[in-house]
This record gives sequence, structure tokens and C-alpha cells, in this order.
Amino acid sequence: LFEPSPIVNAGALDRYPPGSVTLDVNSAIYLVHIAEGYFSLSAICTHLGCMTAWKPELGMIACPCHGSRFNQEGQKLAGPAPKPLPWLKTWVSDDGDLMVDRSVTVPQFQFLRV
Ligand code: FES
Repeated sequence: LFEPSPIVNAGALDRYPPGSVTLDVNSAIYLVHIAEGYFSLSAICTHLGCMTAWKPELGMIACPCHGSRFNQEGQKLAGPAPKPLPWLKTWVSDDGDLMVDRSVTVPQFQFLRV
């Protein structure tokens, strides 16, 4: 049984310009860069586990299954999701890459400032 590593190398910081929300579909995470810093969110809906999608025209994250909506910090705006999207441990590697551990959640609004 192959268990993929929970550690994701999301690449160089400059891939994520200020004001961006980037979905990595392979690892089901969002990499977000806003004025307060960088952070990552699980892209898996907390209702029944569907993959959400960033809707830039609406400025929100939307679940296609039952209509839950989240803001870019993962907080629920609408729908049946019982919890916000989890924030994930995020750091910068020695090589300057943005790293995420999908197996470790952190408190909301714990921004990575570099
Ligand atoms: Fe997302 Fe139901 S799985 S709203």
C-alpha cells in the first residue's frame, strides 16, 4: 500500500504573488499569499470531503457538492460544512521553497511572514 508523503514542496515563494490563492490539485491544498503573509489550507470540504475550488470572480472558495462557501482564510460563509477549512503547517525550506505538512493543522491566522 503506497501512502504519499504528507509533506508537499510547493516551490519557490515567487510562484505566489501577493493577493493570490493557488489550488494545488495534486495535493489538495491552497497556497495563499495576502498582505499578512503566506498560509496554506486544506482544499477538502469539511462537509463530506469533496474537493473545493477557488472562484476568483467571487473571491471565495466553493464546494461543488452541496454548496458550501468559504472565504480565502477558509472560514465558512454558507452551506452545510460544519467547520472551516483547516490551516496547515507551512514553512520555508533551506532552499527557499514553500513547504506544507498536510498532516499537521495549525491555528487559523497563523501567517508565515518572510
Ligand atoms: Fe462540500 Fe457537502 S461536501 S458541501
